[in-house]
Amino acid sequence: MLVENNVPLQPLNTFGIAAKAHTLVRLRSQGDVRTWVEQSHAGEHLVLGGGSNIVLTGDVKPVVLKVEIMGRALVQETPRAWIVEAGAGENWHNFVTWTLAQGYPGLENMALIPGSVGAAPVQNIGAYGVELQDRFESLDAVDLSTGSEFTLHAAQCGFGYRDSVFKHPAPDATWAANDTGRTQGFGLAGRALIVRVRLALPKAWKPVLGYADLEKKRAESGINEPSAQQIFDWVCAVRRAKLPDPKIIGNVGSFFKNPTVSQEQCDDIIARDPKIVHYKMDDGTVKLAAGWLIDACGWKGKSIGNAGVYERQALVLVNRGTGSANPADCATGGEVMTLARSIQTSVYERFGIRLEPEPVVV
Ligand code: EPU
Repeated sequence: MLVENNVPLQPLNTFGIAAKAHTLVRLRSQGDVRTWVEQSHAGEHLVLGGGSNIVLTGDVKPVVLKVEIMGRALVQETPRAWIVEAGAGENWHNFVTWTLAQGYPGLENMALIPGSVGAAPVQNIGAYGVELQDRFESLDAVDLSTGSEFTLHAAQCGFGYRDSVFKHPAPDATWAANDTGRTQGFGLAGRALIVRVRLALPKAWKPVLGYADLEKKRAESGINEPSAQQIFDWVCAVRRAKLPDPKIIGNVGSFFKNPTVSQEQCDDIIARDPKIVHYKMDDGTVKLAAGWLIDACGWKGKSIGNAGVYERQALVLVNRGTGSANPADCATGGEVMTLARSIQTSVYERFGIRLEPEPVVV
């Protein structure tokens, strides 16, 4: 366990926002987690994975726990699946690449999603028709209030669209007030630290296509039955063309969730804006493309201070000052949040829809 003070967080968050951690603890093993729990009695803390889903609005006073537990292995083979395991500190994309190299397909649609393996279940990451929950087997976590380890299977993780029990505080009055749309549930935010994740990669693998961007690649290539590696390459190409590389332009991927509305609400919007991009869901609701809504409000390419809306995908907010030697060029968390709120107001005024941010704001 390595404890450091006054640590610059700019290299540790993909938005590249400048802020400091008063104390940062690097947890490199389960033993480190146990030691930290014993020594600190689980005081106030913030768990940091790859820093790809966080907006820092100032220096962080709670202890920052940087999870650096590594390792990846095939841990079991069943007639139906390969069960692969990775330490929470592993980089997600490197893990996806490794599984394919080992001959275990199934994660290719989620290639190039920034962040760590441990963060993947927290927001049930997903892309191009596959979500983490579709491949999830189980995870091991440590209860930060007691130091004891426990295992959770999919049903216990409460996976939803970019959501899980790890995003919600333990059930109490606040839970009921903030989560009017959900039934009372089991919240683990701030309490569980994920140390390992296991995924079940299907032996009877079938490609998941159907998304317009992937279908376009299939048509262009003339390959009708692509391999998992082929899909991986297509997904990487699509994402590189559309989404900014955080190393070059700071960002946290999609800044807002795609909102869900009733069919009536959608019909009402279609009557005014026939071009709105929407997808019918199995439960009769309709999901709207938040990127389209933001784009329709004229935000693409616009900026507030050094925070901007990406030119090629309006759902992505970017740090215009990434890489600049002058700290004054870099977006602050305040600028990002001002931009985000201005976008929310525009979308609400025009469409009557409240966009919900995807990253955690600290
Ligand atoms: N659109 C516009 N203008 C824009 C952006 C999008 O008109 O500026 C339209 C597109 O033309 C398209 C539709 O909106 O018809 C949807 O856009 P896209 O296919 O790029 O996907 P998305 O809904 O914006 C979601 C995920 C992404 C994931 C992609 C592909 C969310 C919040 N985002 O984006 O996930 O990669 O689908 O599956 O669900 C992430 O979560 O960080 C992320 C990048």
